[in-house]
Amino acid sequence: MLNLKLKTIASLINKNDTVIDVACDHAYLAIYLKKNNLCKEVYASDISENAIKNANKNIENAHLKIKTFITNGLSSVPSNIDTVVIAGVGASTILDIVKNSLLDIKTYIISSNNNNYLLRSNMAKLGYYNNFEVVIKDNNKYYPIIKFIKSNKKDNKFLLKYGKSNNIDYYNYLLKKEEAIITKLPDNLKIKHQKEINNLKKIIKERT
Ligand SMILES: C[S@@+](CC[C@H](N)C(=O)[O-])C[C@H]1O[C@@H](n2cnc3c(N)ncnc32)[C@H](O)[C@@H]1O
Repeated sequence: MLNLKLKTIASLINKNDTVIDVACDHAYLAIYLKKNNLCKEVYASDISENAIKNANKNIENAHLKIKTFITNGLSSVPSNIDTVVIAGVGASTILDIVKNSLLDIKTYIISSNNNNYLLRSNMAKLGYYNNFEVVIKDNNKYYPIIKFIKSNKKDNKFLLKYGKSNNIDYYNYLLKKEEAIITKLPDNLKIKHQKEINNLKKIIKERT
């Protein structure tokens, strides 16, 4: 069974798009998309030879035909791709993949393991707008999932930092973390964290 993160990503994919799941590992997402006819075509790629070996086994067991590629990011993959999915890797790796891509990608659907502020601000610099953001909780962990589209529209710093999700539980979780940290800090470091706390309270109030 597909986990909630990958199922949510699948729900954001446009049915008429050709998709690649970069960093596919087991290729569960690509298999789910193909099996349920959720896009025009799907490819799967991973930097690890072993991952692609497993992916190919899973694809064969599902009696499907999905082209797979052993490659770093988007190097040497087909050029007809509309949507790129990258999930389960860190923001720096994701940004390297996007920066090094020679393809004209319309949509990226991204779930980074860390540093969503770095991700959002650099995607904006690369010409991608955060068109939709959702945060899901799976196995007691929160996962922001962002759909970036090619656009000159820009968000302000506040949205780049805190995102656009309406998941109040997630912001309450971030708030509790900040409140726990601040009690242990010397006075000179408290100001920055108090600002964080105020911003998170503002989001919770405005988006509830
Ligand atoms: C935790 S798995 C993610 C699987 C799936 N995408 C998910 O979110 O559940 C991370 C995968 O990223 C792959 N990976 C790491 N860096 C990569 C890169 N630069 N290009 C392609 N794949 C990469 C690893 O080999 C590994 O299979």
